[in-house]
Order: sequence, then structure tokens, then C-alpha cells
Amino acid sequence: MSHADDHVGTRRDFLYYATAGAGAVAAGAAGWTLVNQMNPSADVQALSSIQVDVSGINVGTQLTVKWLGKPVFIRRRTPEEIEAGRAVELNQLIDQSAENENLPGEPATDANRTLDEAGEWLVMIGVCTHLGCVPIGDGAGDFGGWFCPCHGSHYDTAGRIRQGPAPQNLHIPVAEFISDTTIKLG
Ligand code: FES
Repeated sequence: MSHADDHVGTRRDFLYYATAGAGAVAAGAAGWTLVNQMNPSADVQALSSIQVDVSGINVGTQLTVKWLGKPVFIRRRTPEEIEAGRAVELNQLIDQSAENENLPGEPATDANRTLDEAGEWLVMIGVCTHLGCVPIGDGAGDFGGWFCPCHGSHYDTAGRIRQGPAPQNLHIPVAEFISDTTIKLG
């Protein structure tokens, strides 16, 4: 058994005793939930952050990776896509709420949704905010971004909902460049 395994075993033992203690003085279910959330298992910790090599993504293409069970779109936008996204006035947007884990409370400007200053890199959860289909990319739909064929939701080049039943922009996960060619999710 490695030292790391040893450590996990110790944590589990602690969790068991802490839970028993909480149950003795308070509502058992509530105590369990609280303690459990504070101690994510080693498996969950390992999956909650991944690194993606983006060196092979050319301008005008995108890579889809699976993260926490969901598709994540990593798109390297063309100058035209960047220009189109930046030209949109905020009052044209259907979703006025912020859905950006990196910038909570900030408006969904094109610049706020991209990873880099130049606006080339756009990273989004690839799940339609209507009922969860995976939208088609590569300039699909009436706004040159993504199109969800399930019920006809059109997203623009910054992944913002512009037409159709989806209520929100495609969500932006926590992401950052940790080297010139590596993006870390989570
Ligand atoms: S799930 Fe995308 S439009 Fe309904």
C-alpha cells in the first residue's frame, strides 16, 4: 500500500467517526450531508480538474473533451468570429444573467467569455441550456456559432443564446491557460 492510499484510509476513518459524532448531537442526515461535502473522495478530486493539450487546434476548429461527464467545447476562433461576437450589443442578448464561473456577476460580453485577451480561445460546456442536447458547432445556426437541432436553439460565435427555446448562454466553466499550449479545466 502506498503512502497516498494510507492517507485516504485515514481520511475515511476520520469521516466515519466525525459522522457518527454529528449524528449523536444533531439530525443525522443533515450532519452526514455537511461532512460528506467537505470531504470529497480521492476519485472525485482526481476528476475535478483536467489538463488539455490544445497545440493541435488550428484557427477555425474546435476540440470537444469530456469533463465531469459533460462535453466541453474548446474553440479557437477566427478573426471573423471574434469580430462578430464583439459587435453584438448587450441589449440584443436573450440571457442577461451571468453564467461564467470565472467572472460571476459580469455581463456576457464577448471579451468576458473568452480565455485570452485576443478573444481567440472560447471554452464552454457543450450542453444546450434548454433540455441538454449537445449543440452542433463550426459556424452552425443563424448566428454563425452553434445550433441545437433538438428544438432549434441558435447560439452566436461567443456561445450566447440568440434565438430558440434555450434560456441561457452556453455555460463557461472555470478554465485557464497554464502554459502556451495547455488549458486546465476546473
Ligand atoms: S435541447 Fe437544445 S433546443 Fe431543446
